[in-house]
Amino acid sequence: MTSDLSVAIGRLALKNPVIAGSGEHTMTSRGMRAALAAGAAAVVAKSTNESPAAKRQLDGTDYVLLDSHWRPLPWNFNPPRDAQLLCRSGLVQEAFGPWLIKLAALDAEARQRDAYVIPSLILADLETCAGLAERIERAGLLVLELNIGAPHGDEAAKGTIVLEREAARVRDIVARIRRAVALPLWVKLTGQSEDVAALAAAARDGGADAIVMMGRFMALLPDLDTQAPTLGTAAALGGAWALPLTCRWLALTRRKLGKEFPLIGTNGARDGLDVVRFLLAGASAVELTSAVMTGGFRVIGDTVKQLSVYLAERGQNANDLIGRAADRLQGYADQKQRPGYWSAFVPPEARD
Ligand SMILES: Cc1cc2nc3c(=O)[nH]c(=O)nc-3n(C[C@H](O)[C@H](O)[C@H](O)COP(=O)(O)O)c2cc1C
Repeated sequence: MTSDLSVAIGRLALKNPVIAGSGEHTMTSRGMRAALAAGAAAVVAKSTNESPAAKRQLDGTDYVLLDSHWRPLPWNFNPPRDAQLLCRSGLVQEAFGPWLIKLAALDAEARQRDAYVIPSLILADLETCAGLAERIERAGLLVLELNIGAPHGDEAAKGTIVLEREAARVRDIVARIRRAVALPLWVKLTGQSEDVAALAAAARDGGADAIVMMGRFMALLPDLDTQAPTLGTAAALGGAWALPLTCRWLALTRRKLGKEFPLIGTNGARDGLDVVRFLLAGASAVELTSAVMTGGFRVIGDTVKQLSVYLAERGQNANDLIGRAADRLQGYADQKQRPGYWSAFVPPEARD
């Protein structure tokens, strides 16, 4: 039996839950076409905004893959699953007009594969952002992803990339963009918050149709040879380890916003079984970025295949997975009492 991989994000039907997330490899037509050809249900284009400094920042990017000893790995498009990516990034340099024409044409191509190309805006100035959103809708694109949680916000020049951590402002920002456009609005939030679920609620209250969660963490890695920061700066860090952190916020957000409100997982998925994990935690779809950028577009096809094998083996459909683990999340107080059980987990010398 073949399983049904299709899912829905509100009124938008996706042929499967695998989305190519926004990154340097979704900044070129070739990259976006390759993601579509590999079977992605949607491709989120590299983000843009009006800030010249954000464009300049792209010329100052740097990237390193690290093993669990924090040693650099070769950049050979075949990284181990647990490779961690430390990087700086900037935004699209092309002017907004031609960029939009390109995305609209690619989205038309995508439709022939029952897929979508989704433009992404990173907030700088709110009124300008609303204007860009209107132009995106007028160009016929069907979905907008608005990232107000890019990790680089604290490091970028002021006014270049807004990293919003305050719930009231999240609601106001989303409400302004909501007034500007009627198309489905996906809002991508930071993971660098004490309460990601509260930010998600604020975005929903502002009119978001879906929440994409959650942005990577900022990090500093001292290099043992140079005794200076690796890459010279603080930088965003991601890896397979981030998946359980994201899953927890997905589950808590599902609890807060209800089962019907669509969540999209990002940050930590490396393969099809990770997509399963994200769905179980409450995501309706998953954006993979680092795995595709560092492993090549074949990762998308492999991911869809691994997901479909998992489902077929269990006689399940993708929709059956959504929130299954989240809805069984227990509290510490619900646990069976096992006096003295802890002592098996300490070194023998520590036992009485
Ligand atoms: C090199 C690089 C560039 C990125 N650029 C963007 C971007 O322009 N816009 C955006 O919303 N997210 C961007 N991201 C974030 C990713 O889309 C994704 O949310 C994040 O890396 C976590 O998912 P992952 O573990 O699958 O990589 C970027 C990530 C990387 C690694």
